[in-house]
Order: sequence, then C-alpha cells, then structure tokens
Amino acid sequence: MRKDTGQVFRIEDYRPSDYLIPQTGLTFALAPEETIVTAQLEIERREGVAPGTPLRLEGDELALLGVAVDGEPLDASAYEATSQLLSIPRPPRSSRFTLTLVTKVDPSRNSSLMGLFRSNGVYCTQCEPEGFRRITYFVDRPDMLSVYTVRVEAGEDEAPILLSNGNLVETGKLERGRHFAVWHDPFPKPSYLFALVAGDLAVLHDEFITASGRKVALGIHVEHGKKERASYAMDALKRSMKWDEDIFGLEYDLDVFNIVAVSDFNMGAMENKGLNVFNDKYVLADEATATDADFANIEAIIAHEYFHNWTGNRITCRDWFQLCLKEGLTVFRDHEFSADQRSRAVKRIAEVRTLRAHQFPEDQGPLAHPVRPRRYREINNFYTATVYEKGSEVVRMIRTILGPDDFRKGMNLYITRHDGDAATIEDFVKAFEDASGKDLSQFALWYHQAGTPNLSVSTAHDAERGEFRIEIEQSVPPTPSESRKRLMHIPLAFGLVGPDGNDMQPAAVDGATVEDGVIHLKKRRHVVRFQGVKERPSLSLNRGFSAPITLSVEQKPEDLLFLARKDSDLVARWQASTTLFTQALIQGFRAVRGQKQAVFDDALVEAIGEIAADASLEPAYRALALTLPAEADIAREIGSHIDPDAIFIAREALSQAIAQRNAGVFATLYEGLDGGAAFSPDAESAGRRALRNVLLDYLAVGEGAPDLAVRQFETATNMTDRAAALTVLAHKFSGHEKSVAALASFENQYGDDPLVMDKWYQTQATVPGAGAVDLVRSLTRHRGFSLSNPNRVRALIGTFSTMNQTGFHRADGAGYRFFAETVLEIEKRNPQVAARLATALRSWRSLEPTRQAAARDALLSIAAPENLSSDLRDIIERTLA
Ligand code: ARG
Ligand code: ZN
Repeated sequence: MRKDTGQVFRIEDYRPSDYLIPQTGLTFALAPEETIVTAQLEIERREGVAPGTPLRLEGDELALLGVAVDGEPLDASAYEATSQLLSIPRPPRSSRFTLTLVTKVDPSRNSSLMGLFRSNGVYCTQCEPEGFRRITYFVDRPDMLSVYTVRVEAGEDEAPILLSNGNLVETGKLERGRHFAVWHDPFPKPSYLFALVAGDLAVLHDEFITASGRKVALGIHVEHGKKERASYAMDALKRSMKWDEDIFGLEYDLDVFNIVAVSDFNMGAMENKGLNVFNDKYVLADEATATDADFANIEAIIAHEYFHNWTGNRITCRDWFQLCLKEGLTVFRDHEFSADQRSRAVKRIAEVRTLRAHQFPEDQGPLAHPVRPRRYREINNFYTATVYEKGSEVVRMIRTILGPDDFRKGMNLYITRHDGDAATIEDFVKAFEDASGKDLSQFALWYHQAGTPNLSVSTAHDAERGEFRIEIEQSVPPTPSESRKRLMHIPLAFGLVGPDGNDMQPAAVDGATVEDGVIHLKKRRHVVRFQGVKERPSLSLNRGFSAPITLSVEQKPEDLLFLARKDSDLVARWQASTTLFTQALIQGFRAVRGQKQAVFDDALVEAIGEIAADASLEPAYRALALTLPAEADIAREIGSHIDPDAIFIAREALSQAIAQRNAGVFATLYEGLDGGAAFSPDAESAGRRALRNVLLDYLAVGEGAPDLAVRQFETATNMTDRAAALTVLAHKFSGHEKSVAALASFENQYGDDPLVMDKWYQTQATVPGAGAVDLVRSLTRHRGFSLSNPNRVRALIGTFSTMNQTGFHRADGAGYRFFAETVLEIEKRNPQVAARLATALRSWRSLEPTRQAAARDALLSIAAPENLSSDLRDIIERTLA
C-alpha cells in the first residue's frame, strides 16, 4: 500500500507537464498472478521546454522488467526506477521519441482494488484518481490527454470476454488456448479513464439510435445467471441517453457503450470512456432481491456515469483540485434526470436529507474543505459529499441566479469552448458569466470557501401601514485553516403565505434585489420591506432548498403548523413539519437529560394524522412528512454535548405518541394501501410502498405489536416490503422469538445472494442499544462476511458506525474500540475503504465528555501504528487536529 510521506499537494504549484504523451499503446498479457504490461508511449516534448529535460514518470508498487527508447533497450545506468518512480535524467533531445516499458503486476494479490485486480475471477481496473500508475509508469495526471490503443490477451476459457475503451478493431486466436482483442479509443483521454475488463461474463445486449441516427451497441456484462437482473439498468441507460439529448443536446459519441458489474468495488461506479465499471449493487435489481431505494440508486448512478461522458470525459479536469468540475456538475445532472423521471418535489426533499446527513456534518467538522480544495495529502479522501453534493448545489444556484435559459446558454458555451480540454472551475464559471452578462465573482466563493453559511432571520408586520419587513443577517462559521470568511452571494427563494394559504404578491420596496421570488443576499445584513401587506403572512423560506444553508428563524409553532399544511412549495412544506419535529425532539431530549418525561404538543401529533390521510398529497410525500428526523439529524441540530441514549428515548416517545394518537387512521390507511397489483418499480408504486412501510413502523406498538410485521414479512411479494418488515421486527422486537425467526428465515432464503445478505447485515448493524457491538462483532465471523469486500464492510461496519447511534456511541467506549480494531484490520487489505470508514468519528468533539474521551482514545489507537497508509493517516490527523 501507499505509505504516508507527509507530502502536501497545493493548487498554486500546478504547472503543465514538460512532456506530453499524444499516443499510448498498451498490451496486456493477462495471467492471474503475473500479468505483463507492455506500454508504448509516444512522447512529445512540450514547446518551449529545453531539449534533454529530465523525464519523470509515476508508478505505484510496480516491478519494471525493461525500458527501451525508440526501440533500443536502455542501459540500467540510463534510468532510475523505484516502485514509485521512473526517471530518465537524459532523455533524447529530439522533440518526439518512443518509450517502451514492460512492467509486471499481480492482479490476484491486489486487494486495494486500485489498478488491475481480480473480482470473482474477472480482471478489472480502477484508475481514478491514481490507479493507472499501478499498471505502468506514466505521467499520471488528468491533463495528460492521450489516444489509447489497447491489446488484451488472455486464456479463452478464463476470459472469453475482452473489453477496453472505445471501439473494437480486431480479435483473433493465439497459441495455447489464448485469444486477443484490440480496442481503439479515438478520443484523447486522461489515464484515469482507462479501463480493461476480461472474464467469463453474461451479456445483456441492446441498442440505442442517437438523435442524429447513429446506432450504438449497448452491453451490460454481469455474472452468469444474473442477466435478467440487469434489465432495469439497461432501461435506465437508454432513458439517460435520450434525456441528455433532449435536455442538454448531448449525444453519445462511440459505436459501443459497455457496462460491467463487479462484486468488489471501492465506490459506486466509474465512468471510463465507453466502458463503465459498476459495483454490482448498482446494476442488479429485480423485485425479489432489490428494494425501491436500490432501483432509484441504480437509475441515478447509471445516469451519473453516462452523463460523465460529456461532463468529465469530453471535458475533463486540469488537476484533481478541480474534481467538482466534473462531479458537482454531473451530480446536478443526475439529480435533474431523476427529478424528471420521478416526482420532482419528493426527489428534492431526498436530496436535502442526504445533503444534511452527509455534507453538513463534514462542513461543520474537522474534515471541512471547500468544494474546490486548495491542498490535499491524499486525493482519494476528497471524493466527498462536499465535492459531490455541495458541488451540485452550487451548480443549481448558478441556474437559479441565471434562470433556465441563460443557464442552458452557459452550458452550451462551456461545452463548445472546452470540448477536448482539461478545464478548471474558473473556466466553468466564466462560461456562465459570458453567456449571461452577469458577474459571478462573489458567487464563486461557494467554490472556494468551506463552511455552511447561516442566515439569521427576523420579521415584523405593521398592520396599520400594511408593511412586512424581513431582516436577514448572514454569517459563515470558521473552518479549519479558514478563520475569517468573506460575504457570500446567497439566492434565497421565499414566499409570503397569506391566511388563505395562497402566496401574496407584494412588491419589495428596497433592501435587496428580489427577483422571481428570490432574495439575492450579498451583504452582511439586508432589510427587505414589502408594502400592501394587510394581514400578517407566514414566511416560507429557502423554498426548493434554493441555497445549502442553515436558518435561524424565530417562527411561531402555529405558523409552522400552518406552513406544514398549506405551503404551496412542497419542499418548504416538508421543512415546516420537519422543523416542528426537530423542535419537539430537542425539547424531549432536554427533558430526558433532566430526568423528566418528554411530552409533546397535541396539535403537532394530530396534524401528522391529517397529513398521513391527505389524499391530495402523493403517498411518497406523505411518507417523507411522517418520517421523524433520524437520531443523527437530531444530534446535529443539538450541536454539542450529545448523548445518543437521551436522543433515542425522546425520539421513541414522540413516535409512540404519534402512533397512539393516530392508530385508527394509520391502520385503515395501511390496509388500504395494500398493493395486490403486479409489482412495478415506478415512483408512484414505490411511493405507496414507502408510505405503507412508514405506517407499519408506527403500528408496531402496543398489544400484539409484532403480528402485523410478521404478516407482512411472510406475505411480502417484493424485497421492499419484506426488508421493511424485517427491520421493524429486528429493531423493535430484538431478541423476541418472532424477530429471531424472521432473521433466520431471511438468512435461509438469501444466504447465497451476497447483495441481499447485505440488507440482513445492515438490519442487524442498526439494532438499537448496547448489545449491537457484540452482535456486529459476531457477524464479522458469519460465513458470508469478508473484510476484503467493500460492500460487506459497508453493510456491516459502515452501517453500524454511521447509523447506529446508541450502539456505536455506547457510553463505555466498547463500540469505538471494536471499530478502531476493525478499521486497522481493513486497512491492511484496503486503505481507501478503511479511511472512508474512519470518517464516522469526525464529529467526536460534539459528544458529551465521557464519550468524547473514549472516541479520542479510539482515534489515537488508529493513529498509533507507524506505517499507516496515506489514506488513513490523512483522515486521522485531520480529525484529531
Ligand atoms: N468518478 C467516479 C464517480 O463519481 C468515482 C470514482 C472514485 N474512485 C475512487 N477510487 N476514489 O462516478
Ligand atoms: Zn462521478
């Protein structure tokens, strides 16, 4: 593994490479333990660089077998090679020459899953960000664009399928039962987009005709016997291709598009040119094995990787500091795609929940960094919620500021201007400024300044003068190495909701630019006055979640209740009920901490029943409105001195109060939603299942409580309903014979299907209470579990450490100690996965003192070994700093 060297990379040190590599030829002689890679690099000295300037190529754990220049083997004294670096101090003085390199790699022993590895016997690569240097020495940086021709050779039995980027140009037989394929990708690309796959796989074929009439052969490659499970992914792919043509005018550009599903993969998926490689979790789905959430994820990730073909591949990043250039933009595009395929409001609420759950704590803790960072020690640790999700929010705000037409013009300009480039965030922002004539310089701080801005808002109504005043003050909290912040341009969408529930349309008289229902905040303090407002309106703020900020507003509970019933903006309406829940839960938490009983406002508890039964609202929305904030959400809102046990007790109490008050309504609704009809994964049907399963959770209290869940578990005709019932049984009736029986029956039925078993691990990893540590520890010895497989690790250890507040944060520190040991075990196999897991402790400083001390001890024990990977060392040091 790559050991930490302490080296820090800084954006200001960027300079173009002295040498370019316009052509790259690669030959892979594949063998499980000893694969020989021959690289033929056409090297070109960049104009203005002195002849004979030393040439340096990066490597990582490479064994070099030979070097030749222009076909002549180089004497060992003419180069220096370590496993990390190949340097040729006196290369040819000519402006072009050919460098041939022969390296040897061992795919079977590559458990880091970076570079060339084997997953279930399939050869596969992952090169982003710095995996290509584990295959051959190279100028391994994203601005090094090269045209690749790749020859893959392997045993015909072992690997009947041979794939790489671009179009297939030649195939043939070789001696000793081997065969080969040659692939050529005409589009110059960075090394991180290189890919190779070879193995014995089943293929689902289809085709797509592009807007200009070109035929594209589509293939999804999966394990034998799983072809049927790829059909939803294929459908999502074709819808994505069509959508990008319709919405952005972007057509696919090669004759083939291949997707491969592998079972060992560090991330969700990878957008290699013409050959996307996926974690099989995000390809395989059918009603019997996948939940509605799985279907939605597949649709989103298939789209995301496909959309990268333009935003990422045709236009790539100049350096890794610009990662959000492709990721933030592509997340925005996949969000829009899903919104168009499903319910826009429901999708937007889900995005807000994800952002708050993952990005806000990152932005408010020791790992905070700008959307476009200025320095890093380990780039693998910057594939973060900030770069991806906040990066997407920033693009969304550009659209809000410009309006849809100028936004589209800006996108067109960005694409025509930079097609074939390795670009920067400055290039991106400039395209929108040029297309719209608007000045985005203050706005661009969203890329450069970390931290979640807060708006503190107060209002006043003067009935006599018919004036309504909103006073808003912005602040951005300090973050590591950025103590002083500059003022931001925040587009705040709002509405003044009149007593009849309709929006008032008063004109703003002064104070700030107000355009199309959006206040543009640019100064520290704004006072916006509206006239002709006879009756006091309820203020609906940050509609559609127009800016990724936090709000401090003094709002009367009756105003919030009114908005929760009436706001025409569904995102703000959902926010109103969520705010009411959060306030009630924080009060409940304080009561529990003070040894008192948590009591809740009747009006709130009653309103929930009304919302549940409101047939004018789509079921998916009602499911979201009925879902209480998660324990971690409550903790984040409380902010400090967190005691997860008290949060849990308060939340259970509110849940029971709601359940008891609305038992009759909920039971009737539950029965009425009984699907019966044939399964369909569409958003409507999924929404009904979501509502029904939220109701099931509420209904599992009181006399005979487990029976309904048992009935659903036994009669479910799809995985969504079955897994939901299992969760209710395992969490609410842990140890109960009916719960034990359900878990055993599930294991019996799905024991041979690892992706389904991940749900079983997840369900048990989140059983509340002190017993979870021992349960999770024992599950690490389960026959289906492996510390080497990222999906298993995330399902069990990842879920336990991020979703089980009472189990992980056990007051005696046992959860943390188990976690620290496990992270170090995983690091030996896969440093990237270990580092990602370790971020579960990033909010340790907001815990109450006893837990805080225990968490710190665990962090110190992870930091103790001398030879930590750069991945884990970087996370732990920043977390402790
Ligand atoms: N570019 C990929 C995506 O977002 C993610 C790959 C990240 N890989 C990694 N090893 N960090 O679609
Ligand atoms: Zn991406």
